[in-house]
Amino acid sequence: MASSTSSPSFFPARRGVRLAGTGACVPDKRLTNADLEKMMETSDEWIVQRTGIRERRIVDTEHGESVKHLCAKSLERALADANLKGTDLDLIIVATMTPEMACPATACMVAQMVGAGHAGAFDLNAACSGFVFAINVAHDLIKGGAYNTVAVIGADTLSKLMDYSNNGRGTAIIFGDAAGCAIFKATDDTSKGVLAQSMHADGEGWKDIYVPRCSFDFPQGTPFDENKIDVVQMNGATVFKFAVGTFPEVIQQTLDKAKVKAAEVDMFVCHQSNQRILHAARDRFGLSEDKLYVNIDRYGNTVGASVPLCLDELRKAGKIKDGNKVMFVAFGGGLTWGSSLWQM
Ligand code: UT7
Repeated sequence: MASSTSSPSFFPARRGVRLAGTGACVPDKRLTNADLEKMMETSDEWIVQRTGIRERRIVDTEHGESVKHLCAKSLERALADANLKGTDLDLIIVATMTPEMACPATACMVAQMVGAGHAGAFDLNAACSGFVFAINVAHDLIKGGAYNTVAVIGADTLSKLMDYSNNGRGTAIIFGDAAGCAIFKATDDTSKGVLAQSMHADGEGWKDIYVPRCSFDFPQGTPFDENKIDVVQMNGATVFKFAVGTFPEVIQQTLDKAKVKAAEVDMFVCHQSNQRILHAARDRFGLSEDKLYVNIDRYGNTVGASVPLCLDELRKAGKIKDGNKVMFVAFGGGLTWGSSLWQM
C-alpha cells in the first residue's frame, strides 16, 4: 500500500523524471486480412496498400478477455522490468476510450489486480492521443513533487465497437486491441524528463470519430440507424487529411519549443494510425526509416495502446536507451492531438 508517509513533500528539491520500465500485452487471437476477406468485401491488397496493416489482435470475448486483463498484464510486465512491486506505485492512469465499464474506472480494477493497495487510480479519455496526454500529466505530477512513482497505461479494445460487415469495412479493417504501460519515477538527475509537450483539441471535429449510444448522439443531418449504435463512426478521409497536416505541425512546434532539431531526436514514437500518414511525416523531416518506428503491419491501429506498444518494443530492442531524446506524438478522436519530447 502506498502510505502517506512515503508521499513526497510538496516542496521538492529540483527533480527529474525517468522512465523506469515498460510492458505490453496483446491478445493471442489474430485477425488477419484473409480473415476479413471472409467477413466483408475487401482484399489483403486493398488493406495493405491503403493502411500497411496485415493483421491485428483482438480480445477473445467468448472467454471473458477484456481491456482490464490487457492492462493488468502490461502493468505486471512493466513492474517486473522496473524491478518494482504493485505497492511501490503512487498512482495509476489508464488512458482508454473503451473502459471496462462506465464505473468504476478501469484503473481502479487494474490497481486491485496488481495489488497496488491504495494507490490513486483514474482513467483518462483522449482517444488515440490518450497515452501521450497521460504521460504529460504523469510527468508534471512527479516533477511538481506530488507523486514519486506513476504507472501510465494506454489500452483499448476497439474490436467490441466494430461492425465486421460490409457496412463497417471502411473502419473495421484498421483497428486492433492491445495495452502498453510505462512506469515513471522521480530522479535526482534533473536533466531527465519532458523538454516540451503539447495537448490540443478541436471539439468541432467530434463528429469525425464518434460512438453513438442513442438516437440523440447522431450529428445533425445524419439519420438515426439502429445498426450504428455502439459502433465507431469514422469519417476516414477527413481524419486522414487532418492527420497528414497535424502530425508534422505538432512535431515542428514541439521541436521549436524545446529548441531541438529533428536530427537531434533519437526516436519518434508515433501513433500507428495509417502507414501512409507515418511515411509522410518521415519524409517531411527527412528521417531515416529507423528513426520513426512502424509496427502497424502486425497490430493495426490500437488507439491508446499504439504509442506504448511501440515504446515497449523499441526499449526491449535496445533502440530507446538512457540519454536518448524521444518524441511521442499522437492524434485521434475529439479531435485531439499532442506531443511529448523526453530526455530519457
Ligand atoms: O487513429 C486515428 C483515427 N483514424 C485514422 O487515423 C484513420 C485515417 N483514415 C484512414 O486511414 C483512411 O481514410 C482509411 C484507411 C480508413 C480509408 O482509406 P481511404 O483511402 O480514405 O478510403 P475511402 O474511405 O476514401 O474509400 C475509397 C474507396 C471507396 O470506394 P468508392 O466509393 O471509391 O467506389 C470505399 O467504398 O474504397 C472503398 N473501401 C474499401 N474497399 C475495400 C472502403 N473500405 C474498403 C475496404 N476494402 N475495407
